Amino acid sequence: MVDKNKLRKIELTEPEEEVLFISLRVSDWMGFLGQKQVKESLHIAINAAKKRGEAIEHILLYGPPGLGKTTLSHLIAKKMGSNIRVTSGPAIERAGDLASILTNLEKGDILFIDEIHRLNKVVEETLYPAMEDYALDIILGKGPSARTLRLDLPQFTIIGATTRIGLMSAPLRDRFGVVHRLSFYDPQDLEKIIENAAKKLKVSIDKESIRQIAKRARGTPRIGLKLLKRARDFAQVRGEGKITKELVEEALKMLEVDSMGLDSSDRRLLKAIIDKHAGGPVGLETIGSTISEDIGTIEEVIEPYLLQIGFLKRTPRGRVATPAAYEHFGIPYPHGEKDKKQQKLI
Ligand SMILES: Nc1ncnc2c1ncn2[C@@H]1O[C@H](COP(=O)(O)OP(=O)(O)OP(=O)(O)O)[C@@H](O)[C@H]1O
Ligand SMILES: [Mg+2]
Repeated sequence: MVDKNKLRKIELTEPEEEVLFISLRVSDWMGFLGQKQVKESLHIAINAAKKRGEAIEHILLYGPPGLGKTTLSHLIAKKMGSNIRVTSGPAIERAGDLASILTNLEKGDILFIDEIHRLNKVVEETLYPAMEDYALDIILGKGPSARTLRLDLPQFTIIGATTRIGLMSAPLRDRFGVVHRLSFYDPQDLEKIIENAAKKLKVSIDKESIRQIAKRARGTPRIGLKLLKRARDFAQVRGEGKITKELVEEALKMLEVDSMGLDSSDRRLLKAIIDKHAGGPVGLETIGSTISEDIGTIEEVIEPYLLQIGFLKRTPRGRVATPAAYEHFGIPYPHGEKDKKQQKLI
């Protein structure tokens, strides 16, 4: 089956985009805005580890795409003064691949494993003793004469990142001492992120345009940066090199982002509930098959933002589109005023 999550990610990070984001990637803690609690708690963990002269505990960062997991991992390494090795779940195919990565680490190194939910079972099981005891069990030979050889590893730290924590096994999750969920950014933080990025790109942009981009960035820095870059393209081709409100509008239209920052997947999900299931309640599985989307992706990638802005509600009987969602699409709310009030109260 096609991994929709992957497709969606590719959509958000085409190669050209990656190059841009590397140059726009914040490289110091001062530039990493928002996520106050996560930052504070990471600083405590980092400082404590430094004081003890030990590697920092294994860290798991999760949350929807584009909120800063990779960036944060690099910043942690920087603050620890550690080398960081970067790999990903699907890239480590066999236990042997993992063994060669781990045996090449030095004391205090950080191993960043992106998309850690995609590690296969065998690799995952090899990782357990490595994380817990800094040891690698290698099986020599086959059948009854097989022996295990235990190799000691230097003290190191794994930083795992995932958009799909629900797909991680409990034993793997439990081996992370520090676990943080990154949340959506509020408009003020996004405005500052966009303003800083515009400075880096050396493009002039007015306050109103910054506000517009921030408002429509779906709470996500990566989307804000992508919108900024498209608006800059328009400014260079059509305008006089300056980003204006009109050019932002064009960029938004081209990227099919609507006035609430919703993209086509968001709209498809809400419209399916409204048009095909009378606004709900409707079960996740049913929604999944209506829009041919993997239910995990719906739950962990698409829904969080819709829940946050109050367009969707989870009830024991299923998902419900709220009056605000109807209003957004210009569809009259069919369940009457009483219901509407009740919906707002819940
Ligand atoms: N708090 C922040 N302040 C400033 N810029 C940020 C912040 N968080 C993310 N960014 C920028 O947004 C872009 C995307 O961030 P990043 O690649 O770290 O996200 P991610 O969570 O790893 O996404 P994915 O799940 O797709 O891997 C980067 O260019 C990064 O610099
Ligand atoms: Mg990432």
